[in-house]
Amino acid sequence: MEKFVIEGGRPLSGTVPIVGAKNAALPILAATVLAQGPILIDNMPHLLDIQVMLDILRSLGVQASHTGTKALIDASNMHTAEITEERMKKMRSSIFLMGPLLARFGEATVYQPGGCAIGERRIDLHLNGLRAMGAVVSESGNKIECRAHKLRGAQINLDFPSVGATENLMMAAVTADGITTITNAAREPEITDLQIFLNRMGAKIMGAGTQTLTIEGVKRLQPCEHRIIPDRIVAGTLMIAAAATRGHITLEGVVPGNLTSLVYVLRRAGVQIGIERDIINIVAYNRPRAVERIVTSPYPSFPTDLQAQLMVLLSLADGGSIIKETVFEERFKHVRELSLMGADIRVDHNCAKIRGVPRLYGATVEATDLRAGAALVIAGLAAVGRTIVQQIHHIDRGYESIETLFTRLGGHMERTISIKQDRLASSM
Ligand code: EPU
Repeated sequence: MEKFVIEGGRPLSGTVPIVGAKNAALPILAATVLAQGPILIDNMPHLLDIQVMLDILRSLGVQASHTGTKALIDASNMHTAEITEERMKKMRSSIFLMGPLLARFGEATVYQPGGCAIGERRIDLHLNGLRAMGAVVSESGNKIECRAHKLRGAQINLDFPSVGATENLMMAAVTADGITTITNAAREPEITDLQIFLNRMGAKIMGAGTQTLTIEGVKRLQPCEHRIIPDRIVAGTLMIAAAATRGHITLEGVVPGNLTSLVYVLRRAGVQIGIERDIINIVAYNRPRAVERIVTSPYPSFPTDLQAQLMVLLSLADGGSIIKETVFEERFKHVRELSLMGADIRVDHNCAKIRGVPRLYGATVEATDLRAGAALVIAGLAAVGRTIVQQIHHIDRGYESIETLFTRLGGHMERTISIKQDRLASSM
């Protein structure tokens, strides 16, 4: 029942370090069940989704703590390979445990996962890949049971370079008999981080960052230490926020090479960007220019996870822009909310046609999913007047105290509890 109250119209300025990447941390946490003994993971962000993953691990008998930026995980005493439906429904990434559980125990019982409502989000590529490796997979209702006395190496071609399927199958294949190749694999930087982590545990994986992964099965994995890569989507969200508020910010501890497609689009919009080692400087004192056409697709193309945020910037641009969303079918839910703030956007199938307006105006809006929520926060910071963003639990899934982040940069926003809940608390 919490909400953000944002007083817009102040340019962001200042310096901010970038935290560890949610989408790298989640599969890496799932991979910890592949070894026995203490595993230390640094740069672990404090997010709702990370808490959910740690809770799921604990429910399987894994010891897991998260203090400061460090997570300490020990999967020596696991007692089950079954995850309850309630826990599976809490987030999409719960499915990452299917491959590792099957590899370690020869069985896994899971349910259809939940997650942000941004499209159909099937898991057929995960299941077909496991079947190709010799698993018997049976589905009844939402329940999925996988069995394989010993997985065996296989040649798997993904119909679509799914991030989650690539990661799940990598984790299943590390201790399989023989060699697995995954072609048309996803190439996201988070896949490379997973490869580095698994190889530190003793796996033999090559090819992350390319379309073909080769995984030579090994007998067993050992504990290791690892540091999660910086979150390119958090960095990108901040870069767009700086541009939308016509501010000037510096990001520290980023991997600029992971943000190439965004940097290219922002420069076309007239934003000045300076890059030096792991530092990115963003300066945007003028109204952004429209960018004719942006198409989201798998890495290294423009990421779907920054589409909503970019739409805010283009809503304020001089001229018309088009964004085509090709990854998820229902990832334009922010359009309705942005329209309440004065944006001029028309959606035609998977294309959003945006006619830039000189300014957005504060309104009461609702975060429908994680990145849509981040987009509304940016819109609120850039808008004239007061914006209230509701349903902000979605935002907490992927941004560590976003209000602190933006307040440090000079934005005016605070988290408040809705009156309804205040009344409830005082009557108890
Ligand atoms: N797909 C299938 N079958 C499958 C798997 C995927 O049809 O078996 C389809 C999906 O329905 C979707 C497309 O393929 O249309 C892409 O899905 P993908 O599997 O690549 O996405 P994901 O693994 O579910 C991860 C990120 C998402 C990010 C996408 C795309 C994590 C934990 N999540 O999801 O992050 O949008 O890749 O880059 O890594 C977010 O952080 O806000 C977020 C949604």
